[in-house]
Amino acid sequence: MKLFLDTANIQEIRDGARLGVIKGVTTNPSLASAEGIGSAESYKAAVREISDIVDGPISVEVVSLDAQGMVEEGREIAGWIPNPWVKIPSTMDGFEAISILSSEGIKVNQTLCFSVNQALLGAQAGSTAVSPFIGRLDDIGLEGIDLISDIVSIYKQYDIKTKVLAASIRHTLHCTLAAQAGADIATVPYKTLVQMAHHPLTDSGVARFKADWEKTANS
Ligand code: G3P
Repeated sequence: MKLFLDTANIQEIRDGARLGVIKGVTTNPSLASAEGIGSAESYKAAVREISDIVDGPISVEVVSLDAQGMVEEGREIAGWIPNPWVKIPSTMDGFEAISILSSEGIKVNQTLCFSVNQALLGAQAGSTAVSPFIGRLDDIGLEGIDLISDIVSIYKQYDIKTKVLAASIRHTLHCTLAAQAGADIATVPYKTLVQMAHHPLTDSGVARFKADWEKTANS
């Protein structure tokens, strides 16, 4: 399972990229807004800076709600960076826009996916990746990870090439469960990435090795 960072914060992306484990970045209007981005120009500048840090796919979301607006935005975004994935919501207008953009060779990350049926439609429309939001399903008392398992299983059954990108990840267990469920990618907040790296027994083990070494080194 590949790991993407789910943030528009440049410092987090720099810090995450140093680990050598981040293969892409996902953004959305809320993550962009949290960094003070509120226009196409400022989003473009931020996305270009992100693309200079991470070689992999950078997901950039449209803000239009109508198909034509999404298509126009998607064509514009496609020219911003070498490896854009245009984020399009799982709506009627979104599937229309996905069909058009994918037919033009523009890669699409189908976002705000909350059902197998939306994932089926996106695969037929030509989504490069589909982003089931597992945390938001958990929020309403459902088992979000089950959606990942169901989509992975059905995509495999029909040899569908659309990648399953686990999103709305809230904690490290989501990462583990997404991998167990067979997700192709998990996009994680920087805080979760740091938590994935840490374990108290590793920390105490390192301290003990150091202390034992220094005991002899100083004897
Ligand atoms: O990639 C989607 C993610 O940013 C949404 O996360 O926590 O707002 O559901 P959350």
